[in-house]
Amino acid sequence: MEFNDIIKKLEKEKAYAKLNYIPIIRDQSAKFLYDFVYENKLKSILEIGTAIGYSGSIILSAGALKLTTIDKNYEYIQIAKKAFEKFGFLDQVQILNDDAFKVIKILEKENKKFDMIFLDGPKGQYIKYLPILKNLLNNGGVIFADNVLLHGLIEQKGIIPHKKRTMVINLRKYLDLVNSDPFVTKIIRLEDGIAITKLKGDFYA
Ligand SMILES: C[S@@+](CC[C@H](N)C(=O)[O-])C[C@H]1O[C@@H](n2cnc3c(N)ncnc32)[C@H](O)[C@@H]1O
Repeated sequence: MEFNDIIKKLEKEKAYAKLNYIPIIRDQSAKFLYDFVYENKLKSILEIGTAIGYSGSIILSAGALKLTTIDKNYEYIQIAKKAFEKFGFLDQVQILNDDAFKVIKILEKENKKFDMIFLDGPKGQYIKYLPILKNLLNNGGVIFADNVLLHGLIEQKGIIPHKKRTMVINLRKYLDLVNSDPFVTKIIRLEDGIAITKLKGDFYA
């Protein structure tokens, strides 16, 4: 499905998210995500942070064949199921309703591999997830992390608001780690920032 068509069909979900303060991927980042999946022909995707199935529907519309998506929020997942059903994607989706850290440890034990991991869950925990996520990538696989610049807080010098301190410190650590061996990372300065990480070797142009 073309990008503009899927976005049009997702208008109801977008309005619902806005009304209920559910954060979903922003417009330009959504287009970037769609193009990234489409152009790189990424087929098996792990998503951390399903919410109501907005980004998941975009990923599947871009040509992904299988989406494994995790969210701890039961209510969101019920809405996501309806969205996936609406697009006829239900049989391509595995929705896992649990804490992401718990789930990725199981996926690792099961030796599951993905072409892309779309990281859009709790920002402060990416650093803890990274050693496991590394083992969940197919050869040439990529970690696509959204909102890594946290409205400028990540690169801002000086005092960080107390409530956000742990998240900012942990996300900075994540960015330091993915910018060092064995990873290579590109930061896309679009909206709230996207970090595209691969294991050293090959990298998308
Ligand atoms: C930014 S939203 C995801 C938005 C979605 N990817 C989209 O663009 O349509 C983050 C989601 O992560 C979920 N989440 C937060 N902490 C989590 C955890 N520890 N384990 C699993 N899911 C978590 C929240 O319930 C929320 O739905």
